[in-house]
Amino acid sequence: MQKPKISIVGVGYVGLVAAACFADGGFEVIASTNDSEKVRLINLGKSPFFEPGLDDLISRSINSGKLKAVNSRKEAILNTDITFVSVGTPSRGDGSIDLQFIEQSSKEIGESLKLKENYHLVVVRSTVTPGTTQNLVKSTLERYSNKKAGVDFGLCMSPEFLRQGAAVYDTLYPDRLVIGELDAKSGDILEKFYRAYYKQNPALPILRMNLSSAEMVKDVSNAFLATKISFINEIANICEKVPGIDVSQVAKGVGLDKRIGPMFLDAGVGFGGSCFPKDVKALIAFSKSNGYTPNILETIMNVNLKQAEHVKDLLKQNLTNISGKKIAILGLSFKPNTDDMRESPAIKIINSIAPEGAIINAIDPVATENAKKVINHKVNYCVSINECLKDADAAVLVTDWDQFKRLKPKDFAIMKNRLILDGRRVYDSFEFKEAGYKYVGIGLGEEK
Ligand code: UGA
Repeated sequence: MQKPKISIVGVGYVGLVAAACFADGGFEVIASTNDSEKVRLINLGKSPFFEPGLDDLISRSINSGKLKAVNSRKEAILNTDITFVSVGTPSRGDGSIDLQFIEQSSKEIGESLKLKENYHLVVVRSTVTPGTTQNLVKSTLERYSNKKAGVDFGLCMSPEFLRQGAAVYDTLYPDRLVIGELDAKSGDILEKFYRAYYKQNPALPILRMNLSSAEMVKDVSNAFLATKISFINEIANICEKVPGIDVSQVAKGVGLDKRIGPMFLDAGVGFGGSCFPKDVKALIAFSKSNGYTPNILETIMNVNLKQAEHVKDLLKQNLTNISGKKIAILGLSFKPNTDDMRESPAIKIINSIAPEGAIINAIDPVATENAKKVINHKVNYCVSINECLKDADAAVLVTDWDQFKRLKPKDFAIMKNRLILDGRRVYDSFEFKEAGYKYVGIGLGEEK
């Protein structure tokens, strides 16, 4: 195989970013999705969702002819050598993982493999619970292709660790790559492709292991990061009880210990997104289905749920009563640089204060339209920060977008009541206090 041709099944964050990056790196890539509107947009050089840097990468790859999007799985599989499967794996009502898209795409890939003479490598990149590739994917591919995995075609599982909002950067500069392999030949082909794509970084660690261990690496990485966040949020709640203690200083002091590390120790209103909540719940369900109750994982989720509701408690402590009070919410997306509202703490905060009669103004640089679809309460969606803050009784910083982080005390002067609730600890508390504001920060013990 000279330069392998790549197909990507599923064009969400993981699939489309990989497709655009691999194409921009000189590989021929076919991205396949059942959604005709997404096919149309991608072939016009546009991303169907907001992700910094992705539009440029797609338009460059479409113009160079290295990337194309298609509706047909068959066209994608028959014309390429390696297929990455990046379809969604949502949560079911009970928290367990819904594998219907994995099963459906495995069936379609199997049907195409049946028509193919050359050896083909299938790589699962979606986040799936351990055992999925070995059991569901392998057996579905074999059944519909009438071929044998490890003999007629190869099979790997290679988890993806990119963050939304930094997806392009994370794909270009990963900390490590993990290859779960059914057999050595499958792993060799994938490692060769990765080494060629990441040739500028020959020292990049590539770990090889079996399929289920690779699946577990992904779940455990997300669960551990979520643990760090819930842990520091719990510490923040303790800090709030002690006058003058500041969780940001504590996290800095703790994080410089190399054994702990400084990242993912930012206390705040809790974690959201399509990954941490879903993956921790999936690991809990998986663990229970195997006869073990994972106490730490369950606590991570409980602490996270309470953390968003804690905003309501802090507002009540400082406003006595929130009924009829105008609350300005700065930020709706689950984190900056994305329009994604999935599991956003903003939803939980609004859901907890709206029923108590708060009048809600909200602003977000890009997520407003998505927010309207998932927030059922009455919210005045503002187009300027001034409109959002005007006559407010309290301002709550929920998402640490740069344009909100840059705000100074004078920018809040049009509020009726000078209460700032910093849900991400981005403001200088002294600066705000000196300017006559009541500054309440997550994890900051109030000086008596
Ligand atoms: C996360 C992981 O970081 C990625 O490695 C992984 O590939 C991805 O899930 C996935 O499984 O696809 P993502 O959800 O995009 O990425 O975003 P993060 O930057 O991890 O943030 C998640 C949530 O945690 C956000 O709501 C963020 O505000 C919150 N967070 C993060 C904190 O509250 N404190 C922190 O210190 C860090």
